[in-house]
Amino acid sequence: MSYSQYLILYFLSFILPLIIIFIFIIRKKTRYNLPPGKMGWPFIGETFGYLKPYSAITIGEFMENHIARYGTIYKSKLFGEPAIVSADAELNRFILQNDGKLFECSYPKSMSGILGEWSMLVVLGDIHRNMRNIAVNFMSYARLKSHFLQDMEKQTLFVLSSWKHNSTFSAQGEAKKFTFNLMAKQIMSLDPENHETEQLKKEYLCFMDGVVSAPLNLPGTPYNKALKSRNTILKFIERKMEERMKRSQEGKKELEENDLLNWVLKHSNLSNEQILDLILSLLFAGHETSSVAISLAIYFLPSCPRAIQQLREEHREIARSKKKAGEVELTWDDYKRMEFTRCVVNETLRLGNVVRFLHRKAIKDVRYKGYDIPCGWKVLPVISASHLDPSIFDQPQQFNPWRWQVQDKSKSENCTNINNNFMPFGGGPRLCAGMELAKLEMAIFIHHIILNYNWELVDVNDHPVVLPFVEFPKGLSIKVQSLANV
Ligand code: HEM
Ligand SMILES: *[C@@H]1O[C@H](CO)[C@@H](O)[C@H](O)[C@H]1NC(C)=O
Ligand SMILES: *[C@@H]1O[C@H](CO)[C@@H](O)[C@H](O)[C@H]1NC(C)=O
Ligand SMILES: *[C@@H]1O[C@H](CO)[C@@H](O)[C@H](O)[C@H]1NC(C)=O
Ligand SMILES: *[C@@H]1O[C@H](CO)[C@@H](O)[C@H](O)[C@H]1NC(C)=O
Repeated sequence: MSYSQYLILYFLSFILPLIIIFIFIIRKKTRYNLPPGKMGWPFIGETFGYLKPYSAITIGEFMENHIARYGTIYKSKLFGEPAIVSADAELNRFILQNDGKLFECSYPKSMSGILGEWSMLVVLGDIHRNMRNIAVNFMSYARLKSHFLQDMEKQTLFVLSSWKHNSTFSAQGEAKKFTFNLMAKQIMSLDPENHETEQLKKEYLCFMDGVVSAPLNLPGTPYNKALKSRNTILKFIERKMEERMKRSQEGKKELEENDLLNWVLKHSNLSNEQILDLILSLLFAGHETSSVAISLAIYFLPSCPRAIQQLREEHREIARSKKKAGEVELTWDDYKRMEFTRCVVNETLRLGNVVRFLHRKAIKDVRYKGYDIPCGWKVLPVISASHLDPSIFDQPQQFNPWRWQVQDKSKSENCTNINNNFMPFGGGPRLCAGMELAKLEMAIFIHHIILNYNWELVDVNDHPVVLPFVEFPKGLSIKVQSLANV
């Protein structure tokens, strides 16, 4: 026996029992009562099945099969980690309410790679609270009334002014134009006609392609191109910051913009790097989601002529009384009168589910309804699941805005049931900071499109798909008739 063989044998006789004891201890420690489910392939687990594209008005085949087999809480292996998937509204609420205590936000590395390590979707603890305060202030009711509402109407009319009678175009493209122009204006005071805004928009589209693509950082992949676009966009924002700081040193107060960038520069103690990621993440969060929501409303409404009729009555009534009062621009009071519109907005969010699921991680061992969720495991609250659950929403596949009209006291029980199970904007300490802004945007856009146009969907096969961001792969072509010409 050579010396090295001897050494190996010697080592094994020592280490093997240790390993066995160690495994035994781990076994004992991990005698969790895990939910049912299977872990799938090594490393990738069931990720491909989970991310397989499916129609946005369903929960997808993967989820259906898993819920049928295992129930609404199951274990799996997703995004390279063991995970608990929850399609249970009560558990989802529990997860979101206990954010920072039992669970924390945990998006995959590829997300923070592209959105930035200081993105609002990624940061935790004090820095998150600090940034969230900024975002909430930026989109407070007071600012929605004083700044956003007027600009939203202006940006809506700007986009609609290019809709020629009888023309056909991508409604998704137009919705993106609207939400991008609005956010670019409110965040950095960029004007829509401007050359540099168009440049930024082009970079931004490339950036978005990468966010929604596989995170393969190889030359030429969308992810790789998006990382480059990210840098270009950050340089752009940085230039803007420098301009502002130079100007404030020169003391030109009268030129100061009332936008987010100025506010952050003046009132926050964030580093430049943090400001850049914050601005980028607000541009991302504020543009992508609400443009999809508006596209979904444009997609759902033609299938429900009665809803179009009722919307038109509501908005014509508002327009009439404004004319009588000699007002032109929409006011907050007008918005408050858009009652049926609010039902349409809720119904669009319920059926379309712009955000399907969230990424969390257990930071303690958690016990829920007899199941254990081990510390360190990924937890995925599927917030869309209850929205499409027939035991909560009667005939969930149907676009039915009137289901939100239960003002009747006798039905108040069902109301709480609906509201407890409706969470398109998440919940808890990370509830969407742009919730009211997004609803207002949808209402203002609907106001003008419903008063001025009839539209039909051009391609009957152009449906919203979960990729896992909701999108219309063909762009949602519509043909519009201007009501002034009918
Ligand atoms: C229909 C449109 C929208 C939907 C469905 C939506 C949905 C959501 C959801 C589900 C979250 C929670 C993410 C999580 O918990 O991990 C979120 C967070 C957030 N959203 Fe929205 N959102 C929309 C529009 C907007 C708009 C217009 C803005 C404006 C900038 C915005 C800004 C944010 C921000 C800043 C956060 C992070 C909040 C935090 O972490 O404290 N969202 N959104
Ligand atoms: C619009 O298109 C319809 C047929 O699709 C046609 O009959 C009508 O003349 C067109 N109107 C205008 C103003 O182009
Ligand atoms: C920054 O400001 C926030 C309040 O706006 C405060 O809570 C935090 O401690 C400050 N951070 C630093 C490093 O000064
Ligand atoms: C729409 O949903 C929200 C919950 O996000 C709820 O508070 C509101 O009452 C609903 N609106 C209507 C008209 O039912
Ligand atoms: C509540 O909803 C359930 C099923 O969705 C229905 O059977 C019941 O009649 C409703 N109750 C009231 C008071 O409307």
